[in-house]
Amino acid sequence: MAIGRAFPEVDPAERDPLITGSKMAKLADFQSNGAMALGKKLGKNPREVAAAIVKHVDVADIAEPLTEQSIAGPGFINIKLRSDALAMLVTRMDGATLGVPVPEVKETAVVDLCGVNLAKQMHIGHLRAVIIGDAIARLFERLGHNAVRQNHVGDWGLPIAMVTAKLKQLSDAKKIDMATLSLDSMEKLYKLSQLECAAEERGLAMARKYRMGPKVIAELEAQVEGAKEAMAHAKQTLVKLQAHEPAVFAIWQRISDITMKACLDTCAALHSNVKAEHSAGESSYALELGPVVEELTKRGIAEESAGALIVRVEGLEEPCIIRKSDGGYLYATTDVAAIRRRVQKLDGTRVIYCVDIRQSLHFKQVFGAAHRAGYDINLATKKPARLEHAGFGMVLGDDGRPFKTRSGENVKLMDVINEAIRRAAAVVNERSAELPEAQRARVAEAVGVAALKYADLSNDRVKDYVFSFDRMLAFEGNTGPYLLYALVRTRSIQRKATAERAIQPGTWTNAPIAIGEPAEKTLALTLLRYPGVLASAAEALEPHRICNYIYDLAGTFSSFFDQCPVLKAPDDATMLSRLRLCALTERVLADGLTTLGLPTLERM
Ligand code: ARG
Repeated sequence: MAIGRAFPEVDPAERDPLITGSKMAKLADFQSNGAMALGKKLGKNPREVAAAIVKHVDVADIAEPLTEQSIAGPGFINIKLRSDALAMLVTRMDGATLGVPVPEVKETAVVDLCGVNLAKQMHIGHLRAVIIGDAIARLFERLGHNAVRQNHVGDWGLPIAMVTAKLKQLSDAKKIDMATLSLDSMEKLYKLSQLECAAEERGLAMARKYRMGPKVIAELEAQVEGAKEAMAHAKQTLVKLQAHEPAVFAIWQRISDITMKACLDTCAALHSNVKAEHSAGESSYALELGPVVEELTKRGIAEESAGALIVRVEGLEEPCIIRKSDGGYLYATTDVAAIRRRVQKLDGTRVIYCVDIRQSLHFKQVFGAAHRAGYDINLATKKPARLEHAGFGMVLGDDGRPFKTRSGENVKLMDVINEAIRRAAAVVNERSAELPEAQRARVAEAVGVAALKYADLSNDRVKDYVFSFDRMLAFEGNTGPYLLYALVRTRSIQRKATAERAIQPGTWTNAPIAIGEPAEKTLALTLLRYPGVLASAAEALEPHRICNYIYDLAGTFSSFFDQCPVLKAPDDATMLSRLRLCALTERVLADGLTTLGLPTLERM
């Protein structure tokens, strides 16, 4: 407004004061950078522009009055909030919602997460799809939106038919017992079934070309013949599966049960909210694919190309293929049908895919195809839902290559979780030797899981990161253990107030807050950022923004605690005010950690 009064000739749209947090905490809390842009636009010296703005500013009820002294450098205007205004804002934030407003428009965020595949163990690659997805869903819930989790299980199609055929054959021959088969053995047979169906036709052609001798050729011929047979058998099995033929379907169901039990157990071990009711596997779309393809063809959206059916997408060279030339449907066909269900049945206004960034072309194709079909139109708002790929980078080993076991196998996720807890236990047994053993085990479990999840969530989502147990379990730095410890500290101070000063818990809940010392001011300003951080993390689908924030808050709290005695405060009013700041910090830290899906602790 001051800009308008000082320069009425400037278009209101260009009167942005460009207010940011200040980089110079000693000088200011916020700064306005608008004078520089305006100076350029008006051809005036920005310091003079700043001076003119300052004369017209009236912020007396929240900030210190602005004067010539408020102008710095090329024309920044430094703004210092008044202490009483800060105290008032912090007091207002200290309610049930921690200052998070009720959303003006309630979104329904459908979150695609986990995405395991039948007959396979979850490996480290699924870690991110589970915990980033769960964190995003929790964030929407925290902000008062709806979140609908969808575990798009890879449980259909030819590869699944191959392993089903293999297991049925072995089970009919009484070579395996489906009742007791482990997921590990199943995964081995899965790999075998894929190999058996893969014909080495190129190998055979080479062998013939180079006349590699009748023995080699005969061997390869047999292999190719066998593969053809296995493949034909798998295709028959697929047809039987699609027809729900009982004997075949029962095997598939058993594969599904075994895989999903392990999957849900692993998610539970991660304290991630992924349950049976969130499963909506590819098989659940099986009956929708034919009608979708037919409709898209009728409406002229799908067209034929070299025998296949494709949907061209604006701006993409590669079209979305929805039916192969042999008549089979694809991963993409299912995803197009899934968008229709997620938007038009589940009422999604944002559909968010927490899936490996390497699938980004796939999602561009299916988003484009679904948009052309109008499957993204939310029936209540009549507007297209936002279809978003919250892609994530890879987990790397020390050598900068994808994280694998020494023998080059995928690392089982459950092994990683157990190892994190085992290593956490070693640290906890040393650091918290005074705690009873059962409690130490609980602390170790929380520390291990928090370390693993936080190390993943705190990295920029789209980037690869190097996996390191040592780094994630450190009690210093931006780690899960450090933040759990910071939370526990805010709690132990309050317990101490009761134990040592005989102040009943709750006494400080409504104590008047006073902000005097610089460290109190910094803490207050940091606390006040919380609602904005949650909102921006949800907008960008970037949980790491919350991590950076709580790390910042923990550090700010630590300085406050060093610089402002709480239990030895100069007077009772200051002590109660500071205890209330401890309690509010505790609540914000706990809220942030819970929103990320991390376990928290009372003591450690
Ligand atoms: N099962 C898939 C895979 O392993 C991930 C599923 C991702 N979700 C989706 N809607 N496509 O790559």
